[in-house]
Amino acid sequence: MVKNGRRTIAITSGKGGVGKSSIASNMAYLLGDRSRSTFILDADLSLGNIDIMFGMVPKFNIKHVMDGMRQMDEIVLKGPCGIRIIPATSGVSEFSELNHNERAVLLSSLAALPAHDFLIVDTSAGISSNVLYFNALSEQIFIVVTPDPASITDSYAMIKVLSRRTGRKDFNIIVNMVRQESEALELYKKLVGVTDRFLDVYLDYFGFVPLDQNVNTATRKQRLWAEHFPNCEATRALSKICDRLVSE
Ligand SMILES: Nc1ncnc2c1ncn2[C@@H]1O[C@H](COP(=O)(O)OP(=O)(O)OP(=O)(O)O)[C@@H](O)[C@H]1O
Ligand SMILES: [Mg+2]
Repeated sequence: MVKNGRRTIAITSGKGGVGKSSIASNMAYLLGDRSRSTFILDADLSLGNIDIMFGMVPKFNIKHVMDGMRQMDEIVLKGPCGIRIIPATSGVSEFSELNHNERAVLLSSLAALPAHDFLIVDTSAGISSNVLYFNALSEQIFIVVTPDPASITDSYAMIKVLSRRTGRKDFNIIVNMVRQESEALELYKKLVGVTDRFLDVYLDYFGFVPLDQNVNTATRKQRLWAEHFPNCEATRALSKICDRLVSE
């Protein structure tokens, strides 16, 4: 685990396309807005797109650090509200599974990051060894789930594997793309109904983000919705999640 008083939180999911990167990058912005120094690590190493979310074109990325060609401080990008972004490589399939040496370099580079309040780790979807690794190095795991039945089933599978392989029992749930909070709570109860029957885990409902057209509008323009639509429903809901994060 990456320690030294900083909070490392993983944003992960069973199914792809549920809004992890969108939530992670806008969460970083809102934490920055709350004067919390925040790094965001694009941990989708082969298809990373956090830099796209911020409308940036990185010259170097985490692969250059693992190859020993660059130092971490040379690849980190500065985003709005003082966020610092650690970009991933894109489309290099050989890089999709980290070997022992790459993991060691990554871990020591993260441990040597300047002081910060939060490191948000945006993982890829599913249960690859990289995803397990990034969840294992984070203190808190946030599972993003949507009303899509496949997302619910895959979240259960993800929690099962993560608990067995990392020994974790506590998971935070963020429900995305619902019409209103009652729908999010229903979905959460459904998931708890299954995990309570079959697994020895505790799921904490951390909040929800509604389905909001402003999210797509901003994303298409490579803008952060939390920045450009500060009063939209999605931003208001994610702000509540961030308020809870900073109060803990
Ligand atoms: N609350 C929302 N309302 C409307 N659209 C949303 C919402 N959350 C995410 N989206 C849209 O869903 C799509 C997928 O989002 P995103 O790329 O963040 O998912 P992901 O889980 O990171 O995907 P992957 O598994 O491929 O990494 C994007 O087009 C995004 O704009
Ligand atoms: Mg993503």
